Amino acid sequence: MADKIDLVAIQGTLVAIARHAGEMMRNATGKELETDEKMNAVDVVTETDKRIEDLVNSLLSKEYPTYSFVGEESYEKGVTKLTDAPTFICDPIDGTQNFIHGFPLACISLGFTHKKKPKVGVVYNPFADVLFSAIKGQGAFMVDNFSLAPGQGQGKVKSLPLSPGRKLGSLETALVGIEFGSQREGHNFDLKLEVYKKLTASKGTGGAMAGAVRSMGSAALNICYTAAGVMDIYWEGGCYAWDVAAGWCILEESGGRMVGGNPGKWDPAVDDRKYLAVREGGKEEQKRIVEEFWGLMGGRSWIMSID
Ligand code: IPD
Repeated sequence: MADKIDLVAIQGTLVAIARHAGEMMRNATGKELETDEKMNAVDVVTETDKRIEDLVNSLLSKEYPTYSFVGEESYEKGVTKLTDAPTFICDPIDGTQNFIHGFPLACISLGFTHKKKPKVGVVYNPFADVLFSAIKGQGAFMVDNFSLAPGQGQGKVKSLPLSPGRKLGSLETALVGIEFGSQREGHNFDLKLEVYKKLTASKGTGGAMAGAVRSMGSAALNICYTAAGVMDIYWEGGCYAWDVAAGWCILEESGGRMVGGNPGKWDPAVDDRKYLAVREGGKEEQKRIVEEFWGLMGGRSWIMSID
């Protein structure tokens, strides 16, 4: 069964779909940008999210009728489960808040898992015209058309990470990705804010004095820029498999590593909802910065269910 899965063909299909969806994102106007609330006022969905997910689902189910599909907008709590089956995992627009504000960091994220492991990842930001992709065992790359005028071809294909072998230091020299997410109260939110304080505070006050902290507003892009090696480490709790599955494959294929957002969790599941992505830079160095980050949590953990 496994050897019948053609990952190269799947990647080709996902890239074509991502570029088509990118056009829909770029051309969205008026009603297509209006939002509906999901969990609360900051967790929103637009008509474009729904239209793109419907399109992705219908194209994939025609071409791969026996494969499963998990999508952010069709997800049903307690019903939708990630299984061992070959599965497409879709976030039609990751960075929805950026999308509705016209802030140019939003993307479509299309992953493919088998036995719950990421095997193909495609992440496309149509506003910057940057595409990230990877196939398990075949490396990761980025096609950056940003500097090209329309019609000037495919852009430069760059292998990831962009500067292999660059030393991975401690948090003091790191560029760290964080997000505030949509859950804004309770234990997990308190933990987040306490960790952010420790992460940024001076050494003299017991902090890690992180070199720089960035919140891009898209989990998938945070992971892809960690794969590119321009972000050193990215910590997140609360997002879902569709936010991370594609980026995860790209990260691993770049030599980066995905570990858990909670201390001691070296091998998290794709749907664990708590993650720490670290860029390429050598196993020992990765371990050291991961443990330094976990140390900021002061023995506390995220508490959240995976469904
Ligand atoms: C959100 C973004 C954000 C992350 C949230 C996600 P959405 O996805 O990835 O960075 O912090 O947890 O829900 O809603 O823009 O698809």
